Amino acid sequence: MKVITTTSEMFSTRSDLADTIGLAPTMGYLHEGHLSLVRRARAENKIAIVTIFVNPSQFGPEEDLDSYPRDLSRDLDLLRAEGVDMVFVPSPDELYPSGYQTWIELAELSGVLEGARRPGHFRGVATIVAKLFNLTRPSRAYFGQKDAQQAILLRRLISDLHFNIDLVICPTIREGHGLAMSSRNSYLTANERERAAVLFEALTTAGTTYKAGERDASKLRALITDKLAAEPVAHPEYVSIADLETLHEIEGQISAPVLVSIAVQVGRARLIDNVWLGVHVG
Ligand code: PAJ
Repeated sequence: MKVITTTSEMFSTRSDLADTIGLAPTMGYLHEGHLSLVRRARAENKIAIVTIFVNPSQFGPEEDLDSYPRDLSRDLDLLRAEGVDMVFVPSPDELYPSGYQTWIELAELSGVLEGARRPGHFRGVATIVAKLFNLTRPSRAYFGQKDAQQAILLRRLISDLHFNIDLVICPTIREGHGLAMSSRNSYLTANERERAAVLFEALTTAGTTYKAGERDASKLRALITDKLAAEPVAHPEYVSIADLETLHEIEGQISAPVLVSIAVQVGRARLIDNVWLGVHVG
């Protein structure tokens, strides 16, 4: 497994490759969710490239950039065991040298849901992912449904900027009791981790009720809100039912495929989760 740390080496290594390339961008501290992307990238392409970079530009000034969990040697061991061909681990200075000033913003998709609560977050995500696309020029890029808005926004970016890349969205990998895996789950105490199962329980209740025929968005939203309210450690930030493509909030009846998404503070961790109704992921 080749570990690359500079953009010049990434460029030169990439230009020597004519095979199909699968890219899985990550911020490291890898778990089974990340590894599901990596396995798929490996299975569907000749070469699998994983990037590990805790991207400073997608963290707000009050957010957890400094305390974000990191364990590079463990990550590299995991990726070696998966048979990954290349890992790109640049330093912040390598990707944002002094004088850096180019940013990508999606006029509408950047500003809603997570983007409304985390100003500048998706500008950082869109910019870094476009840079990683240029550095690795993948045939396919793998992202998790866990970060649904990110995946939807990046699909738009690929289309708007004419990247010749297939975006593959992979299903959310969960702990046994339903909590979506996340590097930030390491901020939870054992008790909070157990109780955080309420996020997926609430989403599942909405999903079951939808399947039974309920199409009133407000009723589904209320079901989720009530379920979360019954768990004292959970402090919901938003409960949203939005169009899966535009991310416009749905009032009234649901007709198109929808994204049901929530953000909930549990202890030190700000957790997000979602389910998609009316469409299959995977
Ligand atoms: P990170 O949070 O490390 O996640 C990397 C990728 O793994 C993302 O596509 C994310 O959706 C996916 N992922 C995380 N948890 C998952 C789970 N439980 N099941 C399935 N997939 C999961 O997302 C980022 O990093 C960054 O924003 C990045 C795209 C790397 C840009 O900096």
